Amino acid sequence: MCGIVGFTGKDQAQKILVEGLKRMEYRGYDSAGVALEVASAAGSARLDVIRRVGKVAGLESELEGYKELSTCGIGHTRWATHGRPSTANAHPHVSCDGRIAVVHNGIVENFAELREELTASGHTFRSDTDTEVFAHLIEEAYAKGRDLMAAVRDACGRVVGAYGLAVVCADEPGVIAVARKDSPIVIGRGEKGSYVASDVIALIEATRDVVVLEDGQFAKLTPKGVEYTDAEGNAIEPEVTHVDWDLDMAEKGGYPDFMLKEIHEQPRVVRDTLVGRMTAAGELDIDELGLSLEELNDIDRVFVIACGTSYHAGLIAKNLIESWARIPTEVEAASEFRYRDPIITPTTLVVAVSQSGETADTLAAIRDARIKGAKVFGITNVVGSPVARESDGVIYTKANKEIAVASTKSFIGQVVSLTLLSMLLAQVKYRLTTKQARLLFRELGDTAEQVQHILDTQGAAVREAAEVCRDAHSALFVGRGMGAAIACEGALKLKEISYLHAEAYAAGEMKHGPIALIDPGFPVIAVATKSPTYDKTVSNLMECRARGASIIAVATEGDEDIKKIADHVIYVPRCRDAFSAITASVPLQLLAREVALLRGCDVDQPRNLAKSVTVE
Ligand code: F6R
Repeated sequence: MCGIVGFTGKDQAQKILVEGLKRMEYRGYDSAGVALEVASAAGSARLDVIRRVGKVAGLESELEGYKELSTCGIGHTRWATHGRPSTANAHPHVSCDGRIAVVHNGIVENFAELREELTASGHTFRSDTDTEVFAHLIEEAYAKGRDLMAAVRDACGRVVGAYGLAVVCADEPGVIAVARKDSPIVIGRGEKGSYVASDVIALIEATRDVVVLEDGQFAKLTPKGVEYTDAEGNAIEPEVTHVDWDLDMAEKGGYPDFMLKEIHEQPRVVRDTLVGRMTAAGELDIDELGLSLEELNDIDRVFVIACGTSYHAGLIAKNLIESWARIPTEVEAASEFRYRDPIITPTTLVVAVSQSGETADTLAAIRDARIKGAKVFGITNVVGSPVARESDGVIYTKANKEIAVASTKSFIGQVVSLTLLSMLLAQVKYRLTTKQARLLFRELGDTAEQVQHILDTQGAAVREAAEVCRDAHSALFVGRGMGAAIACEGALKLKEISYLHAEAYAAGEMKHGPIALIDPGFPVIAVATKSPTYDKTVSNLMECRARGASIIAVATEGDEDIKKIADHVIYVPRCRDAFSAITASVPLQLLAREVALLRGCDVDQPRNLAKSVTVE
């Protein structure tokens, strides 16, 4: 979740590091820092470490006054895990003598015992971070006469946990030592030198040919090239991957923020996720299925495991799998699943949903499920991510890189993918004919245009409705059936980006407690699209209205009656209830964003959150 960048070559390192850090800032942004090598006596150098709490822009202004020539350095943007956000806890961390500097993503699980041991042997710690043990471990090994690469290898051998690591040493100018275990690292060679980063987005201006370091591999970067080795120090030749993203894909494309850009990409995500998924004969074609149709036919229980927004996509899937394929389905937060003892048999299918494909709890749950004998199917946005690699089969959500911390387009991609999986399960269970599958597939594709229609027509209605929440202290999201699941995602979006407390409730449960909250002006946001339980939802809304609630309804076009109950109505086109999550979630995403803007919040980078949560 933090970002690492490093450069050694023939250019000003600070400029390259700051640019790289800015691109990765969405990964974590509570502090940032760089270590820059500055030549002193022949063959030697000193390290200047500059760190700042806050965004990379703060570090950049601090570096404006920095006039030294430095052609080698490492940088980091942090999201706190061990130790609060502070300058002392910001990376890089240095050894006692200040001649070794380290940036690290991941977690050192045995840091307490290593810290105790290192302190006992005379090392002084200056931060509360787990990362700092790396600086001292490397210093110890280096003092025994090892070179930097060997010292890094030695330190990694003593650490239990996950790391993407880049290290510089003033006594080996121009060298960056890199290591990886369970935390992404990419390396590239450009015209001006060698680059390392935790995300390819930081490198693509310099080079499009990158090496994705594997677990247990090490790299030595110098201005002239990169040498790759395994854990024993043997030379290896890793595969080079060509990246064909252009930088624009990662930029805002004319929208004021990434969140809005990504919300507007959703029609494309629906289309792309469906491309090539149905054969001319009406069969679903999931090329990375990894499971035979017989194995799928045997499935008698499904667990969907995920976190946050991805968990909500799972709630949608439960409705679809149970109603179409009639397979009992449970949805569980991965962080709970992994510590329970769920009943799993070889005929259990575990569906792991993760945008990033690297969420620690989801990964741990996958591993646990596999050990217990389940088949695992992944739904992820990131090709080659750990979730993809560790699952038997996978569907990619085709959302492309999502930069805003709040998931929008990847949620839609997940719902579409899970819909396909639900249809497939129904087909293998002989509960869905080819003809029915074709019809569903066509209607699913139609939601792309329906989402576009919402984006084109509902902006003003959303903006007016948002005023209801501007000064509120809390809000309730309600719905029934699919609507209840959609409400959960609506409430999460609102709270994470506007910091307004929001809760989702099945509308029928209101009178069992939450209705007590309602007083005049209390915002109730209802998913009240036409569905089998529409009338019931309307009755529940009347009860709220009678108590003075300000009601915002997401309703189906043509429903004029709802205006008699709701203060604000945001319309979505009529679609099958099974697909309503794809349409009805969009107004809720837009609403959350508008409320956040009215309340002066940063919609792309909400406080305390990180895009990908690679620690437990
Ligand atoms: C909310 C959000 C998070 C993620 C959650 C799981 O907008 O983005 O709740 O959904 O952290 O992340 P992934 O899907 O990457 O496993």
